Amino acid sequence: MWARAEWGALVQLQPSPVRVPFPVSFDSNELLMEFIDDGEGNAAPRLAQVRPDPEALDTLWRQFREIVLALAATGHTHGDLSPYNLLVAPGVDGSPHGQLVVIDLPQLVDVVVNPDGFDYLRRDIVNVATWFAARRAQADAESLFAEAVAVLY
Ligand SMILES: Nc1ncnc2c1ncn2[C@@H]1O[C@H](COP(=O)(O)OP(=O)(O)OP(=O)(O)O)[C@@H](O)[C@H]1O
Ligand SMILES: [Mg+2]
Repeated sequence: MWARAEWGALVQLQPSPVRVPFPVSFDSNELLMEFIDDGEGNAAPRLAQVRPDPEALDTLWRQFREIVLALAATGHTHGDLSPYNLLVAPGVDGSPHGQLVVIDLPQLVDVVVNPDGFDYLRRDIVNVATWFAARRAQADAESLFAEAVAVLY
């Protein structure tokens, strides 16, 4: 059931400003998806494993904001977001900074329908903003939460 739910979420997010692994196939309980690599064939690191310089940190925070707002614009939040469920893929178009890829999506939450939807939305934002703020990035969880609530349909 979890694999089916994740398959549904990955399909729903294709195409979308939120980059997720491309869903390849789903068969009974087996889900095959795009392998996000680090450019050298190894798995891309989780956000929790990287040590971005201040400029890269700002770029990644901006990407995170776009992810939260794009999901919110469809009425959703990830539901289990943390620096462990965001991978940092090599930057696109030669950018020296990485690109965030969202993984681990079986519990995608409908913020409006779910009775705890707003709590999930806030928790997702706070989990990641705390990581950024600990590294001295300008990452304000409450203002991003307010922005996300404002774009919920
Ligand atoms: N598409 C992918 N490409 C590369 N690595 C991946 C991919 N999906 C998952 N991983 C790696 O596997 C780890 C676990 O993935 P995921 O979070 O989806 O599984 P999980 O069973 O929910 O694990 P956890 O309980 O640790 O969150 C990720 O943190 C990442 O390192
Ligand atoms: Mg995970």
